[in-house]
Amino acid sequence: MSLNSSVLNEGMQKEFFKSKADIHPTIFHNAITAAIQKVEGNLESFTDKFPASSTIGNSYAFNIHGDSRAANPEKIPGANVGWTTGFWTGILSLVYEQTGDTRYLQAVETQVNSFKERAENEIDCNTHDLGFLYSLSCVAAYKLTGNEAAKSAALSAAKLLMNRYVEAAGILQAWGNMDDPNERGRMIIDCLMNLPLLYWASEVTGDPVYKAAAYKHAQNALSHIVRPDGTTYHTFFYDVFTGEPLKGTTLQGHSDDSCWARGQAWGIYGFMLSYLYTKDTRFLEMSKTLANYFLNRSPEDLVVYWDLDFTDGSGEPRDSSSSAIAVCGLLELIKHLADEEEKQYYTNAALNIVKSLYEHYSIHQDEASNALLLHGVYFKKYNHGVDEANLWGDYFYLEALTRVTKDWNLYW
Ligand code: GLY
Repeated sequence: MSLNSSVLNEGMQKEFFKSKADIHPTIFHNAITAAIQKVEGNLESFTDKFPASSTIGNSYAFNIHGDSRAANPEKIPGANVGWTTGFWTGILSLVYEQTGDTRYLQAVETQVNSFKERAENEIDCNTHDLGFLYSLSCVAAYKLTGNEAAKSAALSAAKLLMNRYVEAAGILQAWGNMDDPNERGRMIIDCLMNLPLLYWASEVTGDPVYKAAAYKHAQNALSHIVRPDGTTYHTFFYDVFTGEPLKGTTLQGHSDDSCWARGQAWGIYGFMLSYLYTKDTRFLEMSKTLANYFLNRSPEDLVVYWDLDFTDGSGEPRDSSSSAIAVCGLLELIKHLADEEEKQYYTNAALNIVKSLYEHYSIHQDEASNALLLHGVYFKKYNHGVDEANLWGDYFYLEALTRVTKDWNLYW
């Protein structure tokens, strides 16, 4: 497929989003107050130690393995391993911005030191997820307070991420060793969220090499990870020697030709972030295309099922985190639209989804939980984190609430 030229944009089909959202702003203030109370309750346990990626019975325990048993062989509880610890640090920064309470900032600084040590000693850094990890921890801390240790840690992470760049294909390999025959040349849609670390590194160092790699990866995602019908593959393989695009597959979605809901959400937000740093309007257009497909499949309560092949009546679980991620992408998208009809549609969609997340998926559902957003799905096929909260769902729910209650400068 040539760049974005033959991708179907289904258009904005949901009548409900066309009429103005009738939502009193107090609902969002109540939501954020409830969320902050929950974070306050977690602060002491999770300052020197990190929570696990997802809950068990709606409760976070200490992080042990991340996702790889090899990552923390001594099984130190609360270790900074895996791809999700930065979401917790990002949550603390958001609460600091909301409250001005310096205890949160101190906790962020403690965690920045952990991230610095992690990058310098290359602890569980053999992954493209360095962007998720370091944008929300160290880049955010640097942006908020000018913390130089945070800046240097984030730059170390950007350098490590560049080691995953496959020159012949123009992509960042997602997982595994670069010569692993099962992982070689695999890009994944999630990686769009890791590119801001590289764009940022070029901005702060003046070295164009990081941005060039990120831009090339994003263009390849536009060409190959998006299918002609405006859906997305979870993963796509390239030949690492010739650069030839090979085939799309899934790991976390329902099937190779289904549309994994979280992948589509990563695409909505991720292409927007590449637009912000490159001003290439193809990325903004693609964000709309993916958003239309996603929103056109909204169920009755507006919170999507874990794969967009499923809807009401399927008996499948919802993934609240996908809806939270998509909302953040939409709330960014609307800032860059000139067309009033589009702006109103995506604003209404975003606000109504946040309202539904608060009313039906947040902590009212289980007061004893230490999470913010319930009913997510991490990995359905492996029955891992199914109908549980997860750290990224909590982070994007709080980012969405922050976006609808105040002017907010992105950490990405
Ligand atoms: N990035 C991994 C996931 O979305 O589950």
